[in-house]
Amino acid sequence: MKRILIVEDKTSLAQVLCEAVEADGFEADVAANGTEGIRKLADGQRYVAVLTDLRMPGADGIAVLRQSRESDPDCPVIVMTAFGTIENAVEAMKLGAFDFVQKPVDVDHLLVLLRRCQEHRELRFENLLLKEEFRKRHGLPAIIGDSPKIVEVSQAIQRVAATDSTVLLEGESGTGKELFARAIHQLSPRHARPFVAINCAAIPDTLIENELFGHEKGAFTGATARQSGKFEIADGGTIFLDEIGELALNVQSKVLRILQEQRFERIGGSVTLETDVRIVCATNRNLSQEVKRGRFREDLFFRLNVFPITLPPLRSRKEDLDALANFFLQRLMRDLKKPGLQLSGDARAALREYDWPGNIRELENALERAAILCEGNTIERSDLGIASTASVDDRLREALDLSGSLGEATERASRAVERLKLSDALKRTSSRAEAAELLGIAPRTLIAKLKEHGLGE
Ligand SMILES: Nc1ncnc2c1ncn2[C@@H]1O[C@H](COP(=O)(O)OP(=O)(O)OP(=O)(O)O)[C@@H](O)[C@H]1O
Ligand SMILES: [Mg+2]
Repeated sequence: MKRILIVEDKTSLAQVLCEAVEADGFEADVAANGTEGIRKLADGQRYVAVLTDLRMPGADGIAVLRQSRESDPDCPVIVMTAFGTIENAVEAMKLGAFDFVQKPVDVDHLLVLLRRCQEHRELRFENLLLKEEFRKRHGLPAIIGDSPKIVEVSQAIQRVAATDSTVLLEGESGTGKELFARAIHQLSPRHARPFVAINCAAIPDTLIENELFGHEKGAFTGATARQSGKFEIADGGTIFLDEIGELALNVQSKVLRILQEQRFERIGGSVTLETDVRIVCATNRNLSQEVKRGRFREDLFFRLNVFPITLPPLRSRKEDLDALANFFLQRLMRDLKKPGLQLSGDARAALREYDWPGNIRELENALERAAILCEGNTIERSDLGIASTASVDDRLREALDLSGSLGEATERASRAVERLKLSDALKRTSSRAEAAELLGIAPRTLIAKLKEHGLGE
């Protein structure tokens, strides 16, 4: 990364700055006023730093700073202030400016600052990847996000990891239940022992017992040798019962027994085995409701519900979107060998507007698909393929006139729908009788309505 955005309305100064940074090996992108600077930032170009004048007619340096914080929160912004405007500089620092320089600009000092920005940028970039590498080597998954909600969950996990308590992870699909289950294991004293995951939804009811408890040779046709179950394999470690809400009632009672006694038998076996496993389970159902409906054993629920943790949906912590998107982008840059990959400002806005019913997994998939589809290195809103589902409500709001009372607005909307239905029916049929039939109304009514709407002749 070498490019620097210079926003300065005085052409002579812009020229001097431009030459100075280029002589130092940077590339300069000059905007002649705040509005132009904001546009360049919103386009999603990534800069080493933004250097902006503070006082400019129209959009000023503060507006440029705001846009930069929004388009690329990590990009350092340096503001230039004239003598006597130090208060504005202080305000800029409060808003997150990296530093400020006074005019007349000391070019050498400025270049030192810019080089520091460059180091800061490259370090941040490497840091994220290093963190991931480190965590991978030590088995700790990278948990991204610093919203209060995710911090709270992370702290809960650290505290409970040290114990042997059963943990119940609840949350919508794609919110990171498995990721957190692994983190609990890795942070626990059991981390050197196995982490065994079982997806209760993926195994047919008739096989799950075999999966969990194993069998003795000859226990059933085809059981040609003794086989250990997951509970046996996980001894000393952690067993992750994913989608526990899908477990059949008869298997639930067996799981309950293990939890109570930590003992079980292999299918067809007479020896009782003792096991020392820590249970972490996850579900995207509401288990207490399942209990009420008689689909989940209440006694098992109480056993599992020792330390419940609810993972927040992505839509309730949109402040983590940028960090998550950056994290996935960096991984894609490496995996797809597209080093300059970036999101345009508008694409970032699209990410924020969307509701993410599939949560982080959906985000991860949307970015991967967009990274492959996009022309060049910039992912645009249209590459994300989420815009159309972004918000039906918003599109309706645009199309309808919602002013006035409830009665008035509804009346207007229903008339608009009626008109559309009528004219569509006329287009699709060759006679009024046919149109009336299609609409499910009497021909008389159709004629009256057409007249009312001024349709037909
Ligand atoms: N905080 C996070 N930081 C980084 N990556 C995350 C985070 N949370 C989830 N992910 C990633 O999102 C994807 C989905 O997470 P995970 O499989 O753990 O969700 P889940 O809740 O188990 O979903 P499901 O209910 O559909 O099984 C994974 O690739 C995971 O690595
Ligand atoms: Mg899962």
